[in-house]
Amino acid sequence: MRLVAALAALGLGLAAAASSAQSPGDPAAGEDIYLDRCVMCHAPDGGGQGPSLNGLFGRKAGSMAGFAYSAALKESGLTWTGPELDRFLADPRQAAPGTAMPITVPDPKQRADLISYFASRR
Ligand code: HEC
Repeated sequence: MRLVAALAALGLGLAAAASSAQSPGDPAAGEDIYLDRCVMCHAPDGGGQGPSLNGLFGRKAGSMAGFAYSAALKESGLTWTGPELDRFLADPRQAAPGTAMPITVPDPKQRADLISYFASRR
């Protein structure tokens, strides 16, 4: 069983592995969380209150063309790899003080699921 879990973690890629000791994320569960808690602001076409999260994984924070980001996020120096997304989603205002992103995802499992979802749709 442990071997299977290890292989699953490898298969899901660095995002899941990078969120350390936690169980690997489940992209389908991550999509459910996205649809439940994120899409109302993060419409895929960028027409929402937040930027589109299409192609999020690997891009620089605050770099989606056409969205009026806060200076705090643009200048945060963050890049949306697994560990930096994990830290941001746990507490955006701590990771990028002054950001307008209001939602926290305190549950590490839900963060891992979201991150594996974003990593799966690069
Ligand atoms: C109430 C609206 C709202 C909700 C709900 C929301 N966000 Fe955001 N989010 C924002 C705004 C506004 C920004 C831009 C912040 C800034 O410019 O400082 C943002 C920014 C982000 C960024 C940075 C994007 C980039 O291009 O750099 C990520 C990642 C993010 N949100 C993830 C999420 C996730 C994941 C969820 C669901 C768990 C979520 N957000 C829910 C409003 C929201």
